[in-house]
Amino acid sequence: MLQIRIFLSILVILSCTVFVNAQRIGSATTGSEICFGCHKDQAKDWNSTWHSRSHVDSNPLYKAVVNYISRVNYQPSESILVECAQCHNPKMTIKEIADKNSFTLAKALDIETTQTKRVEGSVKDKAIKDGISCNICHNVAKVHESSSLSMRGFRAVEWGPADTIYGPFEDDGRAGIHKSVQKEHFTDPNKLCMVCHFGGEKNGTEIYTTGSEYIKSGDQTKCVDCHMSTKREGVIMPEITRAGIVPKVRNIRSHLFEGARNSDIMKETLELKAVSNGKTLTVELKNITPHKAPTGFGGRSMDVKIDFKNGNSVLSTKLYVLEAIYLDKRGKETVPHLAQSIKSDNRLDANEIRKLNIEKPDGATAATITVTYRLASERILKIINFSDPIFDKIYPVTMLNVDL
Ligand code: HEC
Ligand code: HEC
Ligand code: HEC
Ligand code: HEC
Ligand code: HEC
Repeated sequence: MLQIRIFLSILVILSCTVFVNAQRIGSATTGSEICFGCHKDQAKDWNSTWHSRSHVDSNPLYKAVVNYISRVNYQPSESILVECAQCHNPKMTIKEIADKNSFTLAKALDIETTQTKRVEGSVKDKAIKDGISCNICHNVAKVHESSSLSMRGFRAVEWGPADTIYGPFEDDGRAGIHKSVQKEHFTDPNKLCMVCHFGGEKNGTEIYTTGSEYIKSGDQTKCVDCHMSTKREGVIMPEITRAGIVPKVRNIRSHLFEGARNSDIMKETLELKAVSNGKTLTVELKNITPHKAPTGFGGRSMDVKIDFKNGNSVLSTKLYVLEAIYLDKRGKETVPHLAQSIKSDNRLDANEIRKLNIEKPDGATAATITVTYRLASERILKIINFSDPIFDKIYPVTMLNVDL
């Protein structure tokens, strides 16, 4: 009875749009906007994250990397997008291109076939354009835990019926409008993050290593403790009060999935120290995260710049770029997704303390150490011949002044 009462009250209090939208829960063709009217805070946070922009039409770097792979491999970009969709758009309807040769030929000759039409329709489908959305994470009924690098994304999950929401709480009938089922991958959400932030593989080279870096570190802090927020008291759907229903206060988190672009999380990466001794300056970088710094997409970099000064004038500058360098089958530098091998990887390991010993130039009386972050390293931008205000930007991490 309570369930029916809440259900009816919610329908009455909500605006027309939400009402119409709410009726569509259960349809496989809907996007995340159905959830927005009732879960405004989660929606606002999620919108600021790049989970909401994992579709090619919303992410210029993703598009540029896909176009690069397309040029180098003489492969139509749609067939690459179908591969990447495994994690970037795990509900894309086409999972694999049945006849790759005829697809490539048709695209090269610009001929429309049943297959090209189906694939293009699937890549551009409105239902997948909102990326890693509410309808992705909260529709995962089961996670197949596996250490296989290829069983990731949609291959690692079972979707539930479209009218069912999986979440961290036991069903107490309060949602009404949708079924709620408590699942382990929400009470222990690392399992959910590992579906995509781990693995991917080309010629035996692991592409996304955040998951394995984290497992190796042995750290117990959950991904969501840093990337969503610590738990705090809050209400899932504050508008419920308008129907005279007492909101239930629960322990909830933000949906920020904090990264360089929507938060200050970069400032939580390193502890920086410096000791001047005789002719040497020792710079100590301590990675305080349980994964590499930088981690994630293999094209990220961190720059450590040391300016030696006398008064206000800079005498000389030393630059250390922390990044991974990937090689293709001909030994040429490439993007992680085409790598045959890794030439070098000097990113800081989880919790590593790295000491850089640098000879001081004559006459130097002080030094300024600046650590900055790039979502796309200068190397990667050059390889794919790409420029964009967001991805050219330099994000501050930390800095330190020392007297020598
Ligand atoms: C990348 C996966 C992911 C996406 C995308 C996502 N969520 Fe969540 N959501 C979670 C996890 C994990 C939790 C549980 C957090 C915890 O309690 O530890 C959660 C919890 C919730 C809760 C319970 C209360 C709270 O905030 O903790 C609500 C409501 C919710 N999500 C709604 C949404 C809505 C609405 C969207 C889309 C705007 C969305 N979620 C997108 C992973 C996701
Ligand atoms: C008409 C309003 C409405 C719509 C639309 C709606 N929800 Fe809810 N949802 C609720 C209410 C009410 C609750 C329970 C709130 C409470 O107990 O305080 C809830 C609870 C939840 C929870 C927690 C349940 C659990 O088992 O942990 C999640 C997660 C959630 N919703 C996600 C979503 C997602 C994702 C969508 C979009 C597909 C969505 N909701 C659409 C009203 C709505
Ligand atoms: C279904 C696959 C999938 C799942 C599940 C998933 N992610 Fe992601 N995540 C992605 C993809 C793809 C991107 C990159 C999106 C882009 O930039 O286009 C991403 C980006 C991110 C970012 C950077 C966001 C930004 O705005 O820069 C963070 C942080 C993150 N994820 C954390 C998490 C955490 C924590 C979890 C577990 C609760 C999780 N993700 C679950 C696929 C996933
Ligand atoms: C102790 C806090 C902490 C924990 C726990 C943590 N991270 Fe991070 N994460 C950070 C910080 C700080 C950064 C920024 C520096 C870097 O790249 O390492 C970051 C960066 C990232 C990025 C790149 C962000 C971007 O803008 O694209 C991703 C993706 C990511 N983490 C995913 C994860 C996943 C998945 C887990 C769990 C397996 C996890 N993190 C656990 C603190 C944490
Ligand atoms: C195993 C799952 C998986 C597969 C398969 C995958 N990705 Fe990703 N991708 C991710 C995750 C997770 C992130 C977020 C990492 C981070 O924020 O640093 C990401 C981020 C990226 C980014 C950085 C986006 C940004 O906004 O900064 C690019 C570019 C990218 N992927 C390209 C591709 C391409 C091209 C393919 C197909 C050839 C592909 N990915 C296949 C999981 C995957």
